[in-house]
Amino acid sequence: MTTYETRTNGGVADDERAWWKEAVVYQIYPRSFADSDGDGFGDLPGLINRLDYVSSLGADVIWLNPIYDSPQRDNGYDISDYQSIDDEYGTMDDWEELLSEIHARDMKLVMDLVVNHTSVDHEWFQKSRRGDPEYEDYYIWREGDGDGPPNNWQSFFGGSAWTYDEEREAYYLHLYDTSQPDLNWENEAVRRDVFETIEWWLEKGIDGFRMDVINLLSKADGLPDGDPDSEWVGSEHFIDGPRITEYLDAMDEQVLSNYDVMTVGEMPQLSVEQAKSYTGTDGPLDMAFHFQHTKLDYAENQRWAIGEWDLEELKEITSRWQNGLAEEGWNAIYWENHDQPRVVSRYGDPVNYRRESAKLLGTFSLTLSGTPYIYQGQELGMTNSPWTSIADMRDVDAINHAKALLETDDYDEYTDIQDTISYRSRDNARTPMQWEPSENAGFTEGDPWIQVNPNYDEVNVGDAEDDPDSVLNYYRDLLDLRDSHDALVYGDYCDLLPDHESVYVYTRTLGTAEGTERLLVVLNFFGDEETVEVPVKFETASLLLSNYDRDDDDPTTVTLAPYEARVYELR
Ligand code: GLC
Repeated sequence: MTTYETRTNGGVADDERAWWKEAVVYQIYPRSFADSDGDGFGDLPGLINRLDYVSSLGADVIWLNPIYDSPQRDNGYDISDYQSIDDEYGTMDDWEELLSEIHARDMKLVMDLVVNHTSVDHEWFQKSRRGDPEYEDYYIWREGDGDGPPNNWQSFFGGSAWTYDEEREAYYLHLYDTSQPDLNWENEAVRRDVFETIEWWLEKGIDGFRMDVINLLSKADGLPDGDPDSEWVGSEHFIDGPRITEYLDAMDEQVLSNYDVMTVGEMPQLSVEQAKSYTGTDGPLDMAFHFQHTKLDYAENQRWAIGEWDLEELKEITSRWQNGLAEEGWNAIYWENHDQPRVVSRYGDPVNYRRESAKLLGTFSLTLSGTPYIYQGQELGMTNSPWTSIADMRDVDAINHAKALLETDDYDEYTDIQDTISYRSRDNARTPMQWEPSENAGFTEGDPWIQVNPNYDEVNVGDAEDDPDSVLNYYRDLLDLRDSHDALVYGDYCDLLPDHESVYVYTRTLGTAEGTERLLVVLNFFGDEETVEVPVKFETASLLLSNYDRDDDDPTTVTLAPYEARVYELR
């Protein structure tokens, strides 16, 4: 048996500690959280009514998806006014009340910042399209190349990244939907206006920003054609572009650094090296979301194709990020968000082991190094929803891709693509929060804007509250565990069985004034029983938590049931 020396980091220096490292973030997608007025859309008063629930989980921070004025083509990621609240959600007074109610519960509020693009309805775009001299360079306008668009870049939502505008008689760039034109960050006036917006919200007392696709702001000079074979054509010319560091550093120096707030960047195609420079001591951000673990179930690197996933690959990715940012930078840990299908339906077993696998996946997230994010409903073990027709879908991305697939010669009708589209659609994350085993899951008294997952009579907060074995109550235990063990926040990570195909075993170790705190996490990621020899030395061991009813304190040889998770403390 191999034995591993544990590393200790000699305690946590005061300047290494930060509230946002010790926090657990709960993400709320307000459209689908709680509807107070029966119009079928979630709103701020509904959310305020449910704050005690969020607080009862032990969450420290709420990240709220966009609630600004928007035509809602991409559910609020197409903003038409950065400084007002969309009627769908309520008023600025409701928002002020929300902030103060969050603070009254000792939680913090992080808002979404979407400044790579605006909506076509934004006043800046309207003026730009008319050629108003002050705004003509606020967006990226180009002449076509012959009859076609200026270059071969693709929109993330499918099709060309350029749309011809009759009024301006030119093409504008949109890396997402055609209703989301990219801002021209080269223009100093754009940067000034965005920084002012950021400051305006910070002055209102918010506690940070989640920054939408923030490493896409800088586009390469001359907008050259991209490699036609890459997953996202053109991305080598707009991801981590030439001036991105300059823009983010300026945002930090001029605005963010004047406030005690947290910042998390959403960064497609991020590497560990880049993450270090964005989130290290001198970097502009606190942490960043990368996507590598969300692609394990792609087939041939294609998002709209489903493949088998492999635990060793998850271990390799996780260890690379855990070790890579151990000294410099900070991780943001997540499985789900409003863009990702439900994790139980991807990496767990929603049919035979829904509870067990939901708890196992939660144990993983909450015992790693980095700030954990929980997406609404994840703490219930919510699953993907059945999508039997495009008419039921609301996600512009899934709808565009479904239509594009049907236009190819490979597929004739929706049933041919249903499995893939249903599995991958972002709508899976956006079905209403399941509060009660009653009509519309207690989300609304009206007609919900998107279908309710039919399993709400089995998966819902009301029943979970009453059940000591529920996923919800297990999440509460996990948050308590993290709260009471500094090693889970600041400890070193060490993968003890990198080559095991189905069991993931790691330690988190922290040297403290009272001695070494060491936790051992043992996770069986699949549906077969497994026995593992755990290569670790210790004097005493005690089992702190498991998703099965266990009282065995010896972690040396462990027989694990399907999807079993255990966390031990070693001394
Ligand atoms: C981010 C958001 C996503 C949105 C896209 C365009 O990826 O998370 O929901 O569609 O950016 O703003």
